[in-house]
Amino acid sequence: MMHDTARFLPAILFVALASVADAKEPVDARVEPLLARMTRAEKIGQLQLINIDGKELEPYLAPVRTGGVGAVLNSPGPEESRQLQHIAKTESRLGIPLLFGRDVIHGYRTIFPIPLALAASWDPQVMESAARISAIEARSEGVNWTFAPMLDVTRDPRWGRVAESPGEDPHLGSVFARAMVRGFQGDRLDSPTSMAACVKHFAGYGASEGGRDYNTTWIPEQQLQEVYLPPYQAGIGAGAATVMTAFNNLNGIPCPTSTLLFRDLLREQWKFDGFVVSDWNSLSQLITEGLAADGPAAAKLSTRAGVNMEMVTEIYQDHLAALLDAGTIGTDVLDGLVREILSVKFRMGLFEPLPGKPYIYPPLLAAEHLEAAKKAAIASTVLLKNENTTLPLADSVKTIAVLGPLADSGADQIGTWSMDGLGADAVTPLAALRDFAKSKGLKVLHAPGLAISRTRSREGFAEALAAARAADVTLLFVGEEAILSGEAHSRANLDLPGAQPELIREITALGKPVVLIVMAGRPLVFGDLLDRTAAVLYAWHPGTMAGPALTDILLGAAEPTGRLPITFPKAVGQIPIYYAHRNTGRPFNSATYVAMDKIPVGAPQSSLGNESHYLDLGHDPAFPFGFGLGYTTFDLTALKIDDAEIKAGATTKVRATLQNTGARRGTAVIQLYIRDRVADITRPLKELKDWKRVALDPGKSQELSFELTPAQLSYPDATGARHLEPGMFDIFIGTSSATTESVPLTVTGSTISVNFTAPAALPSKRVPNNK
Ligand code: BGC
Repeated sequence: MMHDTARFLPAILFVALASVADAKEPVDARVEPLLARMTRAEKIGQLQLINIDGKELEPYLAPVRTGGVGAVLNSPGPEESRQLQHIAKTESRLGIPLLFGRDVIHGYRTIFPIPLALAASWDPQVMESAARISAIEARSEGVNWTFAPMLDVTRDPRWGRVAESPGEDPHLGSVFARAMVRGFQGDRLDSPTSMAACVKHFAGYGASEGGRDYNTTWIPEQQLQEVYLPPYQAGIGAGAATVMTAFNNLNGIPCPTSTLLFRDLLREQWKFDGFVVSDWNSLSQLITEGLAADGPAAAKLSTRAGVNMEMVTEIYQDHLAALLDAGTIGTDVLDGLVREILSVKFRMGLFEPLPGKPYIYPPLLAAEHLEAAKKAAIASTVLLKNENTTLPLADSVKTIAVLGPLADSGADQIGTWSMDGLGADAVTPLAALRDFAKSKGLKVLHAPGLAISRTRSREGFAEALAAARAADVTLLFVGEEAILSGEAHSRANLDLPGAQPELIREITALGKPVVLIVMAGRPLVFGDLLDRTAAVLYAWHPGTMAGPALTDILLGAAEPTGRLPITFPKAVGQIPIYYAHRNTGRPFNSATYVAMDKIPVGAPQSSLGNESHYLDLGHDPAFPFGFGLGYTTFDLTALKIDDAEIKAGATTKVRATLQNTGARRGTAVIQLYIRDRVADITRPLKELKDWKRVALDPGKSQELSFELTPAQLSYPDATGARHLEPGMFDIFIGTSSATTESVPLTVTGSTISVNFTAPAALPSKRVPNNK
C-alpha cells in the first residue's frame, strides 16, 4: 500500500490541485484537458457500470485502481463506497471519481408509497418531497445516482411495472416527471443532498404487448408523440442528468440501438446533455433479440445510437478496442461518449475534494422523513366507495375487527423496489390501530383469515369470522403481496389472489359493515365484491407509514385525497382501457346497449344495434381515471368561459364555482379536460390539461379559474411538431375523467405552430435542498 501511494503521489497532487484551481471553471473547460490526458483503456473504463455482487470488494479494487470502472451499481454499503471512491480519486492515474448507482425508486430507508400511488396523489409537492427525502437518505449512505424516475406511461395493469409508473396519462406523467427529477436533484446537482436522476426506460416500455414484461412494443409514431414521450421529455426538461435505455424492442428495433430515439430525439431535438446508460445486460441481450449477431455488432450498434455507459455486461470492455483499431468506430465516437459522462461527474461536483467540514445528514428514518411518508400515504389513498358515510368510523364504533393478510405485513406494504427499506421499520395498520385504540378505549380484534394474499386454505376463516361477528365494524385488509408486482411480475389475471374473494364473501355475508382496504401494486379486478362492502379504500402499497396514515384516514383525523392515475377495468378482457380514447364511428350507446343475458333468444343479427361495446360488459370501466371520493361533498356550478371565441394563439379562462356542500372540511381535485372536436389527426374524447387541488371549509365556496393556453389546445403530429387547428373545442371541468360538464370554445383563424411548453408549472413552494 505504501508502495502504491508513493507511486501515485504525483497524480494525487495534480488532481487535488487541479480540482481546487478549476472548481469555478466551466465544465467544458475542465472536461477537455482531462479527456486529452486519458488513455484509450481509461476512456473505455469510464463506459463501464459494474455490479457488485455480494459483500466482497477485493475483486473490484484493481479495476477501479486502473481506471477500468466508471460507475458502481449495488455497492454493499457506505463504507465500501467510501473505500472505492477513495481509491478512484486518489489511487487511479487521473483520479476520476465513481458514480454510485442504486434503485432508489420510492424511498431509500424511509419508504414512500409506490410511484403509481405517488401519482395518485395528484400533488407535485408530495412527489417532490418523496424524491427529496429519498435523495437525502441515499446520499447519506454514499449513493449519488438513482435509477429513477421511471416514466413509462402504461395502460396495462397486467404489467408488473405499472407499480413503478406514473399511470396512464401523459400530462399527469409529465408533472410527476418534473417533480421527481427536481426532488432527486434538488436545486443544485452538486449539493451533498442531491442525486443524479435517471429518466427511464427510454422509450415506450409501458406498451409491452399483453402486459408481459420485457415484451415487444409496437407504437405508431403518432401515439409515441402523444402518449409515451411527454413524461420523458418533461424529465429531461427538468434537468435529469441521465437516461436509461428500455429493454423493449420498439417497432422492430431494440431500444438501446435506436438512433432515432437517442440521437435524433434525445440529443438533437430535446438537447439532452447528460449521459445514457443501458439497462441491466441489455447490450448483450441484443444478440438474444436477434438484432446483433455477436458482441462486436452489439457494441457497434449501441455506440452508434449513443449509449454512453453499459450496465453490468462487458460488451464495450471486450470489443471497443478492436472496433477502434479496425476503424469500425471512430475515436471521436468514443471521446463523445466519455465526454458526456465526465461532464455529468463534473456537474455533480464529484471531482472536488471532500469538504473539510462534512455535511451532517439527518438519520435514516428521521421523524420528519416518516412524517412526510405518512402524509404521502394519506395523499395517495383513494376512497372508491363510502356508503352511508361508513368512513370515517363513527364514535359509536367501539369494537373493530382488523382482518386480512395485509393487515400486518410490513414487508408487503412497502411494495416492490424497496431495496433498502425494511419490513421491520414499517408500521403496519394493525400496530397503528392497536396503538390508537389504547388511547381511545377502542377494542381491536385481530385475525388474518389468510396467512398471505395467495393462501388458498380456509383454515383461518373461522377465527376471522368470529372476530367480525364480535365487532361493530370490520376492517378487511386485502390485496397483493409486494412480490406480485414490479419487474418481471406481470399477471394475466387481476383478481384478488388466493382465497381472498371467499374471505370477503363470508365476512360480508354476516351483514355487518365491512370496510375493504386494498393494498396492491396495480389496479385489481373485483367483480361484485365491492358491492358487498360498505366502503373501499385503495391504498396501493403505501410504504413504511401505511399504518399511521390509514389509521388517521379510517378514524377521521385525515381525509384520503388520492385520485386514480389509471383506469380500473371491470375485467381483464377490457384492457387496454383508458379515458383518452378516440371516438369510434359507432360509439357506445347506452340507450341501445343490450347486455348479453338480456338478448332475446333467436334475435336477428343487427337488431341490437352496431356499437362499440362488449356484450358481456358494456363499455364503462369499474372506476374512471381521475376518480376518488373524499369525506365531504362538493358542487361545481356556474361553469363559464371568458371568451366563447378566440383567435388561434390567444388565451382565455374557464371558470367555475366550487362549494363544499358537506359537513367537514375537505379537498377537491378539480380536473380540466379538453376535446378538439374536429382535427386533421382525430383527437381523443378527452385529454387532461390541468387540475387544481382546493381545500374548503363546509359551506364555503371558491371561484376557480383555469387558463387555457395555445399549448394546451394544440397537439403533436408524428414528428412531435405541435399544431393548433381552428375549430370547435369542448372544455370539461369535473371531479374525474367521466365528467360531462363542459363549455364550448371556438378557435378562429388558421392553423398555427406551437412551441413545446412544459406541463403545468409546479407550485412555487419548493422543498428545500438542504434541510
Ligand atoms: C431494471 C431497471 C433497474 C436496473 C438496475 C433492471 O432490471 O429494468 O429499472 O434500474 O435493473 O437495478
